[in-house]
Amino acid sequence: MNWSSLLRSDIMAGVIWRPAPDFGIRQLEDEHHQLLGFVAELHEAMAAGEGCLRLRPILADVSSFASEHFQAEEELMSDFRYPAVQEHTRAHQEILLELHQMAVSYDSGQAVFAADLATVLYRWITNHVKQHDMRFGEFLMMSGAG
Ligand SMILES: [Fe+2]
Ligand SMILES: [Fe+2]
Repeated sequence: MNWSSLLRSDIMAGVIWRPAPDFGIRQLEDEHHQLLGFVAELHEAMAAGEGCLRLRPILADVSSFASEHFQAEEELMSDFRYPAVQEHTRAHQEILLELHQMAVSYDSGQAVFAADLATVLYRWITNHVKQHDMRFGEFLMMSGAG
């Protein structure tokens, strides 16, 4: 995958911003936008030939971000009695597990590449945000939370 063209393309801007006006919760919108920042940071590191060097701190930042962001979403889902909370929470846990396994692999000396993390982020944006988060956003709008 060509990350450079991905970052410049409408695809990335579209997945971030298309759901945003409908999402209704500013904090979560801003946090979704931060995902693009992580992809940009990884791309920049890879372009500078520093992917391996900078992967671990970026992975740590992404993991912290994921925990906090998912917790905020899950609290909102609980507050609004979102019917698909279990399915959505399970999807969060899968992403957290993927990030955790990547950290464990890296820390045990196995080969983990910046592109691996970029792929997780890309899937998170295109699958999770565009599907699970959008559905929750629509529910919030219908609930009058937006
Ligand atoms: Fe989200
Ligand atoms: Fe989510």
